[in-house]
Amino acid sequence: MTSRRFRRLRLTETTRLLVRETQLSPHDLIQPFFVMEGKDKARLIPSMPGIEALSIDRLLGEIESYMQMGGRAGLFFGIPQKKDLSGHHAIDEKAIIPSAIRAIKKNFPEFLVISDVCLCAYLKHGHCGVLNGHIIDNDATLPLLSQMATAHAKAGADFVAPSDMMDFRISHIRQAMDKKGLSDTGIISYAVKYASSFYGPFRDAVDSAPEFGDRKSYQMDYANIKEAVKEAQQDVFEGADIVMVKPALAYLDAIAKINESVNVPVAAYHVSGEYSMIKAASQKMWIDEKRVVIESLTSIKRAGAKIIFTYYAKEALPWIIANQ
Ligand code: PBG
Repeated sequence: MTSRRFRRLRLTETTRLLVRETQLSPHDLIQPFFVMEGKDKARLIPSMPGIEALSIDRLLGEIESYMQMGGRAGLFFGIPQKKDLSGHHAIDEKAIIPSAIRAIKKNFPEFLVISDVCLCAYLKHGHCGVLNGHIIDNDATLPLLSQMATAHAKAGADFVAPSDMMDFRISHIRQAMDKKGLSDTGIISYAVKYASSFYGPFRDAVDSAPEFGDRKSYQMDYANIKEAVKEAQQDVFEGADIVMVKPALAYLDAIAKINESVNVPVAAYHVSGEYSMIKAASQKMWIDEKRVVIESLTSIKRAGAKIIFTYYAKEALPWIIANQ
């Protein structure tokens, strides 16, 4: 009998690299940024060590240093000073995110700008859509999302990324942007977004925890995979250029399934809680931060995500570059 010795392909680093199937690239990563109003302001986010909310002037410096590390793309979240019940501050062309986009594109035209489109940080009650009683009104929310996306696109966003999980928002946004001559602005859809407790630290950062109830009537049940395929296929049909699965590590099966089910690039969001867990354990020196991060991101890519949104992007870039 021929001897099957698996170790022959594992014996040296050169052989291991020769047969390695998944290699992270600096091109894969997108860093999320939190933008706040005011001048020369920075606010630490206690549950996300190393991540700060920054005013636009400080943000430009942070982007410059990220670009010096090899960063090329960012996802932007606004922290508005004022919230209301109508979403007015989300759709205003002078709002925090359109202003940030204009400043970024003026200073770094080649930096890829992706803007998060959702109302939760702008509405007093913290839900992702406007209310009708205690019901989140899907169809009344669509025009607001379209106006928000159009304001971002007009300001120069390369992609808008709707994260609200209302039905039919992709086609609504696509048509609204096309009507305004913004057909070159792409859509990265948070298509498969689970109602997850891993978003906790993010909600601290932007103060968007819902005032009552939860997001289970519009975000997906984490016990389900069939509707993940329906959601992703529907968003591609409606015009999404890229579809995202979120969170990442607890949902590698969903990433793999979606990658088989659609013919557009798949992204995954390694979310705030996933970041905070690694940070907390590594600050206690219970795990090796760098190795755990590279292993996590490689696994997300191996599952089928070509694009990874992660708060570790800036830190991981030099590790990945050194590893190539
Ligand atoms: C807004 C939004 C959320 C995240 C991205 N966009 C929070 C939520 O749905 O509650 C989560 C990001 C993270 O946890 O890093 N709807």
